[in-house]
Amino acid sequence: MVNMKIAFVGKGGSGKTTLSSLFIRHLAALGAPVIAVDADINQHLGPALGLDDEQAAELPAMGARLPLIKDYLRGSNPRIASADTMIKTTPPGEGSRLLRVRENNPVYDACARPVELDGGAVRLMVTGPFTEADLGVSCYHSKTGAVELCLNHLVDGRDEYVVVDMTAGSDSFASGMFTRFDMTFLVAEPTRKGVSVYRQYKEYARDFGVTLKVVGNKVQGQDDLDFLRAEVGDDLLVTVGHSDWVRAMEKGRPPRFDLLEEPNSAALQTLRSTADAAYAVRDWERYTRQMVHFHLKNAQSWGNAKTGADLAAQVDPAFVLRESVAAPA
Ligand SMILES: Nc1ncnc2c1ncn2[C@@H]1O[C@H](COP(=O)(O)OP(=O)(O)OP(=O)(O)O)[C@@H](O)[C@H]1O
Ligand SMILES: [Mg+2]
Repeated sequence: MVNMKIAFVGKGGSGKTTLSSLFIRHLAALGAPVIAVDADINQHLGPALGLDDEQAAELPAMGARLPLIKDYLRGSNPRIASADTMIKTTPPGEGSRLLRVRENNPVYDACARPVELDGGAVRLMVTGPFTEADLGVSCYHSKTGAVELCLNHLVDGRDEYVVVDMTAGSDSFASGMFTRFDMTFLVAEPTRKGVSVYRQYKEYARDFGVTLKVVGNKVQGQDDLDFLRAEVGDDLLVTVGHSDWVRAMEKGRPPRFDLLEEPNSAALQTLRSTADAAYAVRDWERYTRQMVHFHLKNAQSWGNAKTGADLAAQVDPAFVLRESVAAPA
């Protein structure tokens, strides 16, 4: 196992949350440290990980704790005068505080909650419910902005995973969010709509070296499989059929995770080995360059106007986010 930031994206209802939650359970069962992040429009990851309604409702919303997140991450970075001038793409630099998967820190204290799964606990963080305003294009208050800031300040170490359940909507393209992952799994049902979301994502991702693989979901039989193969080609990684295990969980009677249907657990293993293999092409310099690219773009299109500051000056030209800049806690 290696360290990985993994996103599940796709059209509404395709099964992002279901497959994210199964993948998270799979990692937890292997004993891997996992941060699970719900950045989906419909906030269902908590329940999919077994929380009841009351527990899910008590999860702290990252979107409501942005000032705390910004203040912590800013640290003593002299290029960032105040949390108010920090936007979702403000990159870390000398003096910034970085996040590690395994440590405790004020951001996790405020925003993460442990969820017990078969095999171990994971940390769950949620953006909080989306409103109409969140779905606008470049908005300053974007809920996923909190996630993007955290990802841009996160140095994941060996054998650690961050799994994000998110929508494939415009929100992730307005910023650099879609470039923040070592592996993006696009969940697609064997339908024209499912496939068209894939094409659109692929188009956006093309220029940014995003590693994208399609996970077919709710695939029933050869005709479904042929359809996805024909439409998606080699990007089709694996398919998942209807799962009675998932259905039982949705009824509030989750079976033990080791009782998941064999073909579906084989699919999860394929996801993990494929994600792990993508680690070989991780490039911290490119990762940092891309966050700067999106920051400058946001600064110019709305950030400077919104904050009244020259946000390009926040970029620390010598800084590269990487494991070695963060001494183990
Ligand atoms: N492989 C599967 N087997 C059985 N049920 C499934 C499977 N995949 C998804 N479902 C069911 O389909 C519904 C939609 O799935 P899910 O909530 O994971 O999709 P989503 O893409 O996260 O949707 P949303 O856009 O609403 O967040 C859920 O009721 C889920 O339990
Ligand atoms: Mg969902």
